[in-house]
Amino acid sequence: MRRVAIVTGGTRGIGRAICERLKADGFTVIANYAGNDAAANQLKADTGIASYKWDVGDHEATLAGCTRVAQEVGPIDVVVNNAGITRDGTLHRMSYDDWNEVMRINLGGCFNMAKACFPGMRERGWGRIVNIGSINGQAGQYGQVNYAAAKSGIHGFTKALAQEGAKFGVTVNAIAPGYIDTDMVAAVPPPVLEKIVAKIPVGRLGQAHEIARGVAFLCSEDAGFVTGSTMSINGGQHMY
Ligand code: CAA
Repeated sequence: MRRVAIVTGGTRGIGRAICERLKADGFTVIANYAGNDAAANQLKADTGIASYKWDVGDHEATLAGCTRVAQEVGPIDVVVNNAGITRDGTLHRMSYDDWNEVMRINLGGCFNMAKACFPGMRERGWGRIVNIGSINGQAGQYGQVNYAAAKSGIHGFTKALAQEGAKFGVTVNAIAPGYIDTDMVAAVPPPVLEKIVAKIPVGRLGQAHEIARGVAFLCSEDAGFVTGSTMSINGGQHMY
């Protein structure tokens, strides 16, 4: 039977590349998304991948959304926690709302999805959870105390849940992408981005498919002995 994989924030950018890769690897893939209906329709038209709309930062909505997916598609075997937002700004300018929204969606989303899906994986004796962290959660980044804290939290969350899942056949890992050519990175002011790219030894931004390939490995049968780990895919920008 084909395993069911859900990718949060799966209709654009890195999430979309992950959906396409997992589909090519034989999973039944569902994309979750929060707002952009046009991107969801485009994904469906291009790939046939269905999407479900809810805010992963909303606990009740996430439990209800995952229940619906399980009923309509099948038990969820793989969760890729990819949904994330930025609200960049130096601390003295950052609002409490900018802090809370990033924590609620980027880190709270991982908790909400795990609450919805981990118990079933544990009962069935097989599961894969891949959390998308960030180089900026490992190294910090000027103007991102909220995002760096949430992403750093994801790395701790990964290592803790990996310990709980191990004896049940559920692996929990993280990918820490560097700067990838997506809408999120395109929103960084060009002069700032130029300076960042100049510090990437590989000399370019990463591509979404380069992250997707790493996720696909962590979701595969071959990765059953890999848990609690972080795979950094960042062009050599931060060697952790
Ligand atoms: N280190 C030290 N000082 C820095 C700095 C840095 N990295 N970046 C900027 N500064 C300094 C500037 O030199 C400037 O100093 P002076 O006032 O003395 O000249 C001061 O900080 C103000 O800088 P800005 O003009 O840039 O300030 P701003 O308020 O207009 O913008 C900012 C601040 C929003 C943080 C902007 O610099 C920015 O967007 N930075 C990029 C943040 C970033 O990398 N975000 C990543 C988004 S992509 C992502 O998050 C995906 C992922 O996982 C990798």
